[in-house]
Amino acid sequence: MTNPHLYEQINQDLKNYYDNVKNNKRNLWRNNFHIEMPFGLINDPNGLCYYNNKFYIFYQWNPFSCEHKSKHWGLVTTTDFVNFTRPEIVLRPEEWFDKDGCYSGGAYVKDDTLQLFYTGNVKGESGQRESYQCMVEYKKDGNFDKKGVIIDKQPESYTTHFRDPMVFEGNGIYYMVLGAQTEDLKGRALIYNSEDSFKWSFAGELKTNMNDFGYMWECPNLFKISGNQFAFLFSPQGLNEEEFKYQNTFQSGYVIGELDLNDVSLKHHTEFREIDKGFDFYAPQVFRYEEKHIMMGWIGMPDNEGEYVSSQDGWIFGLTMPRVLKYIDGVIYQEPLEFLENLRESQIVDLENEIVDNYKITLDTRTIECNLDLDMKDYNDLELKMKFENESISIFYNKEEEICILDRNSMELGGKGVRKFKLKADKSLKLHMFIDNSTIEIYYQDGLETTTFAYFPKCDDFEIEIKNKAKINKLQIWNLRKIN
Ligand code: FRU
Repeated sequence: MTNPHLYEQINQDLKNYYDNVKNNKRNLWRNNFHIEMPFGLINDPNGLCYYNNKFYIFYQWNPFSCEHKSKHWGLVTTTDFVNFTRPEIVLRPEEWFDKDGCYSGGAYVKDDTLQLFYTGNVKGESGQRESYQCMVEYKKDGNFDKKGVIIDKQPESYTTHFRDPMVFEGNGIYYMVLGAQTEDLKGRALIYNSEDSFKWSFAGELKTNMNDFGYMWECPNLFKISGNQFAFLFSPQGLNEEEFKYQNTFQSGYVIGELDLNDVSLKHHTEFREIDKGFDFYAPQVFRYEEKHIMMGWIGMPDNEGEYVSSQDGWIFGLTMPRVLKYIDGVIYQEPLEFLENLRESQIVDLENEIVDNYKITLDTRTIECNLDLDMKDYNDLELKMKFENESISIFYNKEEEICILDRNSMELGGKGVRKFKLKADKSLKLHMFIDNSTIEIYYQDGLETTTFAYFPKCDDFEIEIKNKAKINKLQIWNLRKIN
């Protein structure tokens, strides 16, 4: 059980942080336009929704340290993704059913009420786990009212790795999808249904072709993407690395098929496709806004805390910017949400149709949006470098082999390594990059692929270099403003 004085201290620390933020010494790694916490550890986005004319962004937050412990739900709201409310704690792990963590879950907007579903994590004396699915109600201008446990145990033949509820509605019935693990340690998703969103019955295990696909599936999302096609986006743990796939400790990705809720199956589904190929992307969540599906993910990775050296300054990880999902020819493309154009402060580069050789631009900011379109008709290889004095991050592309390599090996601090993936770019290679002080999100080929990752340069110097001869169809760079 948590001590109320700790929270007075946290509120005081938050106040001090924000009152002084303008005077704070510039910090090399504090991001300008990514959601991150003043202190502690942030992980999965939770309860994403549009409610009461605002975007609600909840997230896992341990405000006490940079370790995976004591998970609370934090909240920021925004109407435009430029102006945000200050982070606040809305769910504390202080009841018998969530005493070791208010774990991840989703939101459902029911008439005027925002219902939040989450997993109460409980550890017994000898470390054994119990998982309770819980609900909280929030009414406009009200409090977060914990309703308690709505599912008190996993079904038979599953382990207590049973978590991350997401609720959706179909034909007047509420459905909940949950991440689970069978007793023989296979990842699964389970479906529950309910008439009133309070009393839930187990409908069955979601049947898919992925019977041996990792040992646990975390953070499942099920949403209609077009006609009778549903996307099932989840984060499986325990996939084996392949040359062009599954190179992170854990992955996030999706399959698309026909959802039959009577038979609890996803029929004729596609092969699993990773949603992001960068070093640091996990546990994405999708919500609906107008006709769009918007996704945000955690910039981080379980079990890799040692790579994120910002923890030496008392904070670790962040959330991605919101991305709109578009379903085209059986795959999901991602696009930055149009609100993000409001972050553009000034355009600092605008080039068209130029043949260059070892082209370099020196920038006096590391918080930019860069839209680059390179001609590939007459070129085969490309090397793009982001240089920070003696350190750099490179993107190599080879058209013939259709291989893209992201290389972080020459960074001294933080995570290193390469990520390799297949990418087709016959006519032109399009890179849309959002570079923040310690986070980079890149959209390739209009969002067919993305890579999200953290980097921790040792200085503020920044240069972008196209190492070889190339034809620039278009290059636009904007300086981006700070969110607040
Ligand atoms: C995914 C996850 C979830 C869990 C939460 C705990 O990163 O492990 O499965 O609910 O984080 O913080």
